[in-house]
Amino acid sequence: MFNVMAASCEIMPTVPEIAAHERNGPPITMLTAYNKPIAEIADSIGIDIILVGDSVGNTALGYETTLPVTIEEMISHTAAVVRGVKEALVVTDLPFLSVGVEESVSVMNAGKMLKMGGSDAVKIESGPHTVDITKRMVDIGIPVMAHVGLVPQRIRQMGGYYQQGTDENSAQKIMELAIEHENAGAFAIVLEHMPSDIAKKITQKLEIPTIGIGAGPHTRGQVLVVDDVIGLSGSMPPFARKFGNVKVEISNAIKKYREEVISGDFPP
Ligand code: KIV
Repeated sequence: MFNVMAASCEIMPTVPEIAAHERNGPPITMLTAYNKPIAEIADSIGIDIILVGDSVGNTALGYETTLPVTIEEMISHTAAVVRGVKEALVVTDLPFLSVGVEESVSVMNAGKMLKMGGSDAVKIESGPHTVDITKRMVDIGIPVMAHVGLVPQRIRQMGGYYQQGTDENSAQKIMELAIEHENAGAFAIVLEHMPSDIAKKITQKLEIPTIGIGAGPHTRGQVLVVDDVIGLSGSMPPFARKFGNVKVEISNAIKKYREEVISGDFPP
């Protein structure tokens, strides 16, 4: 857990523990996972939060964007992840159009992630339309992680995965949105692809922890997409880092298997 406490005791991170993360404590580590084996590895290593991101669309499912991802796909991947996790907090993204159209439908969709997927909380790509919905979910008992800055579900509106908050006006809007979602009851907030000084200001202003991706070193946690981290992605955003190269390992293993079947070395 927050590796904060891990040194002395093994405690499953809960929503209140994440919300109460100490400002000067060790950073919160968050990573996406979409299936049981990867979730199991991330969990056993001590990742604090496993995010079943709708980036499952661009990664495991091979869609061009996250827009086609459905509630059913998110529930199925969440349930797989939950089966691999013993310690980490599991947070599931609400996919495009599952939230924000109708309040009651949004709440029901969020509830399904907890009820059918077994997730601990939901993440919502936030906008002015998600403030009241966040409050309603929190009132009912559904923990919400907010997400501001670059929100990939707005790809058609943005025209590309551009850095956000690069002028004073848009930086101010991101700050206001972050404050509104904290006031609505979000327990943490993702800050994606924004200048590091803006992320720093938001982090200083909010009580809840900020978790950055492409937002510099001043947030209280970091998150990346697991396929980027392990070297499985075809292409990566400029702010991601490849920490390994499983593509080569997988490719070598499959190549060897094929060769040995053809040569007759396998089966023995
Ligand atoms: O879907 C996702 O993986 C995300 C992270 C990049 C924060 O939202």
